[in-house]
Amino acid sequence: MSTLLGKVAVVTGSGNGIGRAIALAMAEAGAAVTVSDVLVEDGERTVREILALGGSAIFVRTDISVAAEAQNLIDTTVSALGGIDILVNNAGMGGSSARLHEIEPDDFDRVLDVNLRGTFLCSKFALPHFLAKRDGRIINIASTYGIVAAPKSAAYCATKAGIIHLTRQLAVDYGPDQIRVNAICPGYIDTSLGRRAALLSAEELVDASARREKAAAMQPLGRQAQPSEVASVAVFLAGDGASFMTGSIVTVDGGCTTTFNYGEASN
Ligand SMILES: NC(=O)c1ccc[n+]([C@@H]2O[C@H](COP(=O)([O-])OP(=O)(O)OC[C@H]3O[C@@H](n4cnc5c(N)ncnc54)[C@H](O)[C@@H]3O)[C@@H](O)[C@H]2O)c1
Repeated sequence: MSTLLGKVAVVTGSGNGIGRAIALAMAEAGAAVTVSDVLVEDGERTVREILALGGSAIFVRTDISVAAEAQNLIDTTVSALGGIDILVNNAGMGGSSARLHEIEPDDFDRVLDVNLRGTFLCSKFALPHFLAKRDGRIINIASTYGIVAAPKSAAYCATKAGIIHLTRQLAVDYGPDQIRVNAICPGYIDTSLGRRAALLSAEELVDASARREKAAAMQPLGRQAQPSEVASVAVFLAGDGASFMTGSIVTVDGGCTTTFNYGEASN
């Protein structure tokens, strides 16, 4: 598997979860990877894991919602690794679990800033490099919640829907320059509830995990996925095997957006 040999990939939010798995998989496929996260220890751990596999990686601490930091991420990658071929806009956050009238304006803004503005900023600074060589691949990590709505997650759902349509829009604007832009919509992926787990008590975590397991069990494939099952799709989209794919919204969701749970009605 050396489909990305000689390529340079930037993966945001790759200190943990899906981003970490994508960084590892891209390195295994031969890419030199810039691991990026707000969490320094976590990002550096991913770099060590890549180096231990014989891969090549650097870490650049970045809050993707801050323009100067997003620019520094791309600039440092280009100067340290010799260019950029692949950008994976993965970093994201869920926001508070509440109905819209209960959400504080600042909390809503923060989810928009990280999920949507962060995707905009990293793309903005990577695109001039892609334009210069008429080649480049952007993979946006959206969500099934950008396709179907979920309870108590207005900001998250709105940003993920925004990322899906931004993906299509960028495909239109940059297709003539041979820059491909695609999105992945993961369903239930077992990332230990992401960083949110750290905010929950042990009891809340057991409860939330059980609810998640139960929800995943009702979907066609009947389980959560491992982050590596999203990463393999990202590697494919970044490689030449996906050379005629742009503007595609690829669900990696165990079938959950293909149907709804019929429950007892199916008997
Ligand atoms: N896990 C799932 O079930 C699932 C489902 C659908 C979509 N997603 C999406 O996949 C992506 C990754 O999710 P995950 O489950 O791996 O989450 P995670 O919380 O395990 O990892 C996200 C990483 O992003 C980093 N991050 C957060 N804000 C950042 C910022 N402003 N700048 C830079 N880094 C930042 C975090 O520190 C963390 O390391 C997110 O965009 C998420 O919305 C996840």
